[in-house]
Amino acid sequence: MPTEVSRAAIALAALASLSFAQPHQNYAEIKPAAIPGAPMGWNSWNSFANLIDSKIAVEQAQALVDSGMKAAGYQYVVIDEGWWKGARDGAGNIVVDPRQWPALKPGQRAGDMSNLAQYIHSLGLKAGIYTDAGRSGCSFAGPDIGPKYPGTGSEGHYDQDFLQFAKWGFDYVKVDWCGGAAEKRIGAVQYAEVAHAIEKAEKATGHGIYFSICEWGSQKPWNWAPGVGGIVSDIWRTGGDIVAPVVEEAKDEAHLKRMATLKNVLTAFDAGIHPEAQHTGYYNDLDMMVIGMRGMRENWDRVHMGLWAVSSAPLMVGADLTRLPKSSLAMLTNPEVLAVHNDPAGVQAIKVAEPAPGLQVWAKPLAKPGERAVVLLNRTASPAAISVTWAELGLASAPAQVRDLFAKRNAGRFDAVYTVTVPAQDLAMLTVSGQEKGAAFYSAAGDTELIGGNKALSFRDVRSRKGATFVRVIYSSRARATVVGRLSVNAARSTGVAFPPTGGETRALTLYLLLRGENLPNNLEFSAPCGDEIALEGISVSP
Ligand code: GLA
Repeated sequence: MPTEVSRAAIALAALASLSFAQPHQNYAEIKPAAIPGAPMGWNSWNSFANLIDSKIAVEQAQALVDSGMKAAGYQYVVIDEGWWKGARDGAGNIVVDPRQWPALKPGQRAGDMSNLAQYIHSLGLKAGIYTDAGRSGCSFAGPDIGPKYPGTGSEGHYDQDFLQFAKWGFDYVKVDWCGGAAEKRIGAVQYAEVAHAIEKAEKATGHGIYFSICEWGSQKPWNWAPGVGGIVSDIWRTGGDIVAPVVEEAKDEAHLKRMATLKNVLTAFDAGIHPEAQHTGYYNDLDMMVIGMRGMRENWDRVHMGLWAVSSAPLMVGADLTRLPKSSLAMLTNPEVLAVHNDPAGVQAIKVAEPAPGLQVWAKPLAKPGERAVVLLNRTASPAAISVTWAELGLASAPAQVRDLFAKRNAGRFDAVYTVTVPAQDLAMLTVSGQEKGAAFYSAAGDTELIGGNKALSFRDVRSRKGATFVRVIYSSRARATVVGRLSVNAARSTGVAFPPTGGETRALTLYLLLRGENLPNNLEFSAPCGDEIALEGISVSP
């Protein structure tokens, strides 16, 4: 496939040198770097609220395995609010109710959270737990069921609590914001401190902890959460809760009336569109899924699954897995849809067309050159034909193969456009395999190491006709671990960029950058806290 080569100037600020180079290979074909995918698993909140206990967690973990969800890639079992009622011992260590968390096998002590983590691990799954960035968490702010418990947050105990979570064996921590919000804290500051506590706990124990930030988008976390505190991978919630917990055991009027709706699913999806923040292992979190919960229908489940998958959003299922409808399970485990979710480019879909109100085309590039994942979404109350054109997908005008992922069929080869009738409140999810249009390549020739301190590598004259677009960053790294750098665009916005190790091989990262359009010049500046381990070869900018 021809790559249009734009001979471009780059300047290494430190040396103020200008250099020009030809790319030495076909940049479209370079393999993606191994970034972590968005987490998949189960979370207790949506169906059990504060009633979570050992029995429920054990049953759900078992159901994750028995249902085939584990085999499909769901791996986390996360206990949310309610596992802890805020008690600490004289040394400040978290103390839990031994009846809620009994021994699970001989030799264990009741009230030791490692019992559950061990059990979850014994199933080949990973364990997740929950706290708040403030002093008194959501259990105090307004618990869904039960009395208010003060002191249910980790503020003042970040190092101690995260060390404890790691020692217990938890692999994932969701950090809520009820306390932080009540105390009017700054999210970027608190969550950076939490990230540092995680780093210390990991160093002390050798046990990794995945960081899930939950401040509901209130302080625009997409602007600061990617790489916050130097973390190599994380997720951040972009909105409020899709549904208040639908707890079957709770027979009060409020709970009996609750149900999940498509409207709320779509609201969460719309609030979560921040593609400029989602890259290199950092993900917008559209909230726990409500697939299979009271109120949902098969077509709504499909809309939910298709939108979360095309977004590569975390797939944390909130339904009671012991009573998941068959059709919901099939939706959640559809291998081709999950392949789009797990695509190694890891970017979020963007809306490329809205031919009529409520009829939308969402798309994103997949790691394989010329491949796009596409969602044709019908939000209206009547069936409608929706088309996607290759031009909208940034593909060359040449025949492309279309596959319908939920219908599990090849639709055929089409020259420039594909049209399908989508039922009311439903979607079609496609992959379109065509030909990449030539991207403009900007080479960082010569001395391309990223240098620590205040030095940075700049691409000063990056042009895009349409403005915001997908950009691939071509680099190699000899570092042993992921290096978290930064990228600033036109000195206005900056984002964390994680560079996974590549063993010295050339690899690509895909980012969506809010460039200035109309072929005006853009300045991209990369920096990273490292020596000469990372070499940037250049960037390619989709037309
Ligand atoms: C907030 C979060 C939810 C859940 C509850 C627990 O509302 O957004 O996901 O963790 O707190 O109270």
